[in-house]
Amino acid sequence: MCGIVGYVGRSEAAPILLDGLRRLEYRGYDSAGVAIVNGEHVETRKCAGRIAELGKLMAEKPPTGTYGISHTRWATHGKPTDQNAHPHFDASGKLALVHNGVIENYQALKDQLLQDGDDNFTSETDTEVLAHLIGKLYDTSVAEAANAGSNGNASAQLPNNKGRLVEAVRTALRQVIGTYGIALVHRDIPDFLVGARRGSPLVLGVGKEENFLASDVSAIVAYTRDAVYLNDFDVVAVERDKFEISSVAGQAGNYQLSKVEFTDADIKKGDYPHYMLKEIFEQADSVRDAMRGRLSPEECTAKLGGLNMTPAQLRDVGRVVLTGCGTALHAAMIGEYSIEQLAQIPTEVEYASEFRHRNTPMTRDTLVFAISQSGETADTLGALRESRRKGYRTLGICNNVASTIARESDGGVYMHAGPEIGVAATKSFTSQVAILTAIGLLLGRMRHLSTSEGTRIIEALEALPSQIEDVLKLSDQIKAIAKKYASVNGMLFFGRQFNFPVALEAALKMKEITYLFAEGHPSAELKHGIIALVRPDLPSVFIAPDDAVFSKNLNNIEQVRARKGPVIAITSGTGADRLAKIADDIVSIPIVPDYVSPILTVIPLQLLAYHLAVELGRDVDKPRNLAKSVTVE
Ligand code: M6R
Repeated sequence: MCGIVGYVGRSEAAPILLDGLRRLEYRGYDSAGVAIVNGEHVETRKCAGRIAELGKLMAEKPPTGTYGISHTRWATHGKPTDQNAHPHFDASGKLALVHNGVIENYQALKDQLLQDGDDNFTSETDTEVLAHLIGKLYDTSVAEAANAGSNGNASAQLPNNKGRLVEAVRTALRQVIGTYGIALVHRDIPDFLVGARRGSPLVLGVGKEENFLASDVSAIVAYTRDAVYLNDFDVVAVERDKFEISSVAGQAGNYQLSKVEFTDADIKKGDYPHYMLKEIFEQADSVRDAMRGRLSPEECTAKLGGLNMTPAQLRDVGRVVLTGCGTALHAAMIGEYSIEQLAQIPTEVEYASEFRHRNTPMTRDTLVFAISQSGETADTLGALRESRRKGYRTLGICNNVASTIARESDGGVYMHAGPEIGVAATKSFTSQVAILTAIGLLLGRMRHLSTSEGTRIIEALEALPSQIEDVLKLSDQIKAIAKKYASVNGMLFFGRQFNFPVALEAALKMKEITYLFAEGHPSAELKHGIIALVRPDLPSVFIAPDDAVFSKNLNNIEQVRARKGPVIAITSGTGADRLAKIADDIVSIPIVPDYVSPILTVIPLQLLAYHLAVELGRDVDKPRNLAKSVTVE
């Protein structure tokens, strides 16, 4: 989704802004641009397409100056064209603005500006309307002050035009309905940036004689690890050696300086050809980190202090709702099975986008978990806010510790998976499933689970990292399978019980990065309609570990074989022998209890999607039309 980088300091802004945009590239975008102030000029370069194109434009005629803003745009209002790329200017051409989010009432604001005689719009964007509005308010305030011959200003701390610009931003934002993360510069105000946020993340990076604004800290972590994560309705005035945070309403703001928990090295690809492959291979470590310090063999339970709940409160939970989007939702579906099996607490999974807008009947003792790798997904954040507004205890399961969901929830569990850069979620999924299993264990041990059952679950969780290593060794075998099926038009995925959500997740991975048609279903649904699709050029992938439902899966595999559909099976234990004559390709993984099985079964499927995408020449880490963090509804 859209990205923002701003810089004010003593170095040339252009390389820093371009480098920052490159680091945000993984988030998905379709145009990019910069505006750098150089004395009398605001130098702008922008274009539709990749950052490499912007880099070429900047190399042809390098913009110079030590403060500026930049942006990657993921089109919402208006096509991805050069004209619609940010930055956008006000009517005077002196104020440049970049914006993430959606100004819902932009048409009404534009109509008002048109009525007032401002018709100098050059794009179809909502952003340009905001630039015009702020510019008009600022120009009016400057003119009034000049007329009055006064030096009066609107900010207690900031003198003259700096204060006037901040006040113009505040006044404009009070008229806005919608979401925004913005950064802006004005030609007449040297070495000065203004940022603000509501619903779209914005972080201030604090350096030595230089400061930064960014929509994601990974854009600036190479320059500073000291950061202030802005809150909704914060407005920040940024200079080289100081900053001032206030609210849109004009009150002085509180802030906390945090240390970014990862380094620049953590967001490098290393020797891997793609981030996705690196992150798949990190899963032994990320699952270990998700469990680190959270399992108590002495008490045979999980210790999740971040939930901020007393034993009595945990025991009183009568219902659980798990909400999220995409991969996080699939992890939630596995969580439903685990929590119901281990703790016998009725659990429901709700798409965050549905949950937030409907009136789900809830009981007083309902505990809600919002699950999100980024912690910024607009729908999941909306669901969290709706749940909290109604007074339910709402917890987060997030990877990004500084994210809005992490900060707004009543408590929760961090994944500690490290930065996930590949657009296709991989390691966050296995961490989420491991954490939900630990939650099931904790809630189960508050109820009927015995110490020996608790111990068995802990042993199963602790054994996972080395079992994941074993599964990762199958990468070459899976690559060969991917090559064999490189000419197919699609794939079907089937699984039962804990592995039904894995079928959904595998289909999502396949769609996202290969662009092939893919569907996931419970195996038994085959005969209720899907079997009509079965044909020799459409492989069916069965997730059929050696478990209580293996023989049921076997029946479904036979049904596909009888109709000449190729079968790829992910199995374990004796499954390989039993499938030897009926599956075309068999991937055999360690045998584990059903509730941790998805953590192993999903890995060959992540690898299958990955190798097939590479074989098809797809842009694995930046698949078309997709964004890593979906901050619009
Ligand atoms: O950051 P989140 O976990 O909230 O993201 C949710 C989905 O947008 C995300 O899982 C998406 O489906 C991935 N691209 C899947 O690979």
